[in-house]
Amino acid sequence: MEIEIAKYSGYCFGVKRALNIVEKTLDEYSGSGKKVYTLGSVIHNPGVMNELSNMGLASAGEPEDIKPGSTLIIRSHGMSPRTLKILLDKNIEIVDATCPYVKKAQAKVKKLENQGYFVLVIGNKDHPEVIGIKEQIDDNSVRVIQNSLEASDLDFKKKIGVVIQTTQTADRVKSITSVLIDKCKELLICNTICDTTKNRQESTRILAKKVDVMIVAGGRNSANTTHLADISLEENKRTYHIENYSGIDPEWFKDSDKIGISGGASTPEKDIIDIKKTIESFDS
Ligand code: F3S
Repeated sequence: MEIEIAKYSGYCFGVKRALNIVEKTLDEYSGSGKKVYTLGSVIHNPGVMNELSNMGLASAGEPEDIKPGSTLIIRSHGMSPRTLKILLDKNIEIVDATCPYVKKAQAKVKKLENQGYFVLVIGNKDHPEVIGIKEQIDDNSVRVIQNSLEASDLDFKKKIGVVIQTTQTADRVKSITSVLIDKCKELLICNTICDTTKNRQESTRILAKKVDVMIVAGGRNSANTTHLADISLEENKRTYHIENYSGIDPEWFKDSDKIGISGGASTPEKDIIDIKKTIESFDS
């Protein structure tokens, strides 16, 4: 059995950077009695979140759950100015681990609004990155759309400016923007899909085409891993999305010579190696 790992796989620059900031902050405050929080998961990977929790990181559901005087690390997904203000008003110290690519998308919506565009954010409405991008500007100047059906429901606008959730697929964006051409006089598309995402998507597609079975590793709640699994499934019906090696079923590999593995941007390299070793063990 031959096993190949996708050329671009596992932690992206933004996740590595955020995890470094979290570890450094935990180290700095260890023994000080000061609590260090994030709002929600730092990354969408349950295994890594468990490790960080053992190191002392607390994950709060709402700003109200955070005690005044504590420290909060903004995740790589970023944060809306409204939430940030609530935290600052509570005298909470902020450490910013927002990915610089997400910051660029946040800056773009502000610029588009200043230039008089009605802003559309293409992305998942409930994703914290998208909420953080959308809430940079006035609610009347912006809308989040998820698919071409929602795009076709829009009223005609003079100027539409588009910003894209960093982990969206280019194909989905193309299908939506082709509808938008008939919805305005002027259409400005800011391609804020990050290169890391593009590389992972392309290398997953290439690998999925040439193997018998494809494994996509990463949190089920991770947007970028789920997109990778969707792309892989388009090319290879024998695609399985698992969180780690314990989700593997040996039956999947019957009558297969070539296996591919791809990992999302929030998947640790260790998980990918464990999966490879587990599959190899079926061959002996
Ligand atoms: Fe940043 Fe791209 Fe990763 S936006 S968090 S480098 S997927």
